[in-house]
Amino acid sequence: MGDQIKLSAGNADFEYPVLKGSVGPDVIDIRKLYAQTGKFTFDPGFTSTASCESALTYIDGDEGVLLHRGYPIGQLAEHSSFMEVSYLLLNGELPSKSELEKFELTISRHTMLHEQLATFYRGFRRDAHPMAIMCGVVGALSAFYHDSTDISDPEHRKISSHRLIAKMPTIAAMAFKYAVGQPFMYPDNKLSYTGNFLRMTFGVPAEEYEVVPAVEKAMDRIFILHADHEQNASTSTVRLAGSSGANPFACIAAGIACLWGPAHGGANEAALNMLREIGTPDKIPHYIERAKDKNDPFRLMGFGHRVYKNYDPRAAVMQKTVREVFDALKVDDPLFETALRLEEIALNDPYFVEKKLFPNVDFYSGIILSAIGFPTTMFTVLFALARTVGWVAQWNEMISDPGQKIGRPRQLYTGPTQRDYVPLDRR
Ligand code: SDX
Repeated sequence: MGDQIKLSAGNADFEYPVLKGSVGPDVIDIRKLYAQTGKFTFDPGFTSTASCESALTYIDGDEGVLLHRGYPIGQLAEHSSFMEVSYLLLNGELPSKSELEKFELTISRHTMLHEQLATFYRGFRRDAHPMAIMCGVVGALSAFYHDSTDISDPEHRKISSHRLIAKMPTIAAMAFKYAVGQPFMYPDNKLSYTGNFLRMTFGVPAEEYEVVPAVEKAMDRIFILHADHEQNASTSTVRLAGSSGANPFACIAAGIACLWGPAHGGANEAALNMLREIGTPDKIPHYIERAKDKNDPFRLMGFGHRVYKNYDPRAAVMQKTVREVFDALKVDDPLFETALRLEEIALNDPYFVEKKLFPNVDFYSGIILSAIGFPTTMFTVLFALARTVGWVAQWNEMISDPGQKIGRPRQLYTGPTQRDYVPLDRR
């Protein structure tokens, strides 16, 4: 018999099994709690709740550790590629050379979008936020790819997973082109996954587009850093949507909608806008005070994290990548100095130290993306592009679990108890 935990409710004692993972906190299996005690647990925001079992990504927030199928994010960012990390997340092991080549070829064969989908863009205003377009177009994919929506069929799950991973760069690039009024660029499968995305975004029909290797590498590394991150809000949204049997395109569209929030994936856009509002380092103390003021809704965007109570390992890689991109493009952005100074001041301020608020993945990413040429409105789109492989891998893991049930939380009800209807003439 494994470990048990005892709960006393009234004059009755109940015991619940403690389940152990391969690493990380144990969990108390309370699936029988309500049936035995008539009580629910109460955990809004899920600060102490494990919603599922997963073998994909492990985070140790206190140590600042992030592993994908056991491999540290720093090693993957240094040595791997986004396509290889995608294969790893989907299949559990690093691919052989031939497995990787086959996977890349398969993905390249799905990069084109059904031509009819291009007309969807024309229904949006030119100044529509690209994330609004992403929600709409990705959700609409289920109207075009009926032949891969039987989620009980592993082959359908595989094809729709590949379609989503492959088409996100095309959809994202088209959202950018639509916003700037330039013609859509078709995929060029002679290029890498990331090189193809850069050409579809920044290339124009009238000229040959030269992919800058250092920028391609930096962009690919940024995709790796955003690929998956355990049971964050948007991944939990995808899992909950998928638990009802919804088709994978609709589930990923739901994940995109959730990611858009400024507390989540929208923070990269908000962080750069914040740095632009701060401007120069001399203004930093004023904003630090605002961030500490309970009566001021202002927060340091790109700081803090529900899980990381240490430095987000992705932020460390991101900070290093800023210099590489600046050197490759021979650009500089004074906001980088402002960001470095802001981090230094915040990390020496008791408020941030006590609350264990460190830079997260969103703090430096905007500076790099802006240097490459993306407008801030595209930052969360890039996050969604990369996170699609994580969402798809988590969705597949959930759907292929035979014990999977529809997600249906309960509540603590504090509304009126039963009362009789009062006719209008007596109110
Ligand atoms: C992502 O979950 C994931 O894994 C997400 C993500 C992923 O890869 O999927 O990592 C991506 O979403 C990164 C986070 C991006 N968001 C931001 O940068 C927005 C700014 N940060 C926050 O709003 C906040 O830190 C959260 C939302 C990220 C985390 O919020 P929590 O865990 O619910 O913590 P909290 O809001 O309860 O804050 C704890 C305390 C509070 O003070 P008290 O009420 O205890 O006095 O810390 C304070 C907060 O006021 N605080 C901040 C702060 N973040 C938290 N104060 C100032 N500035 C901040 N950024």
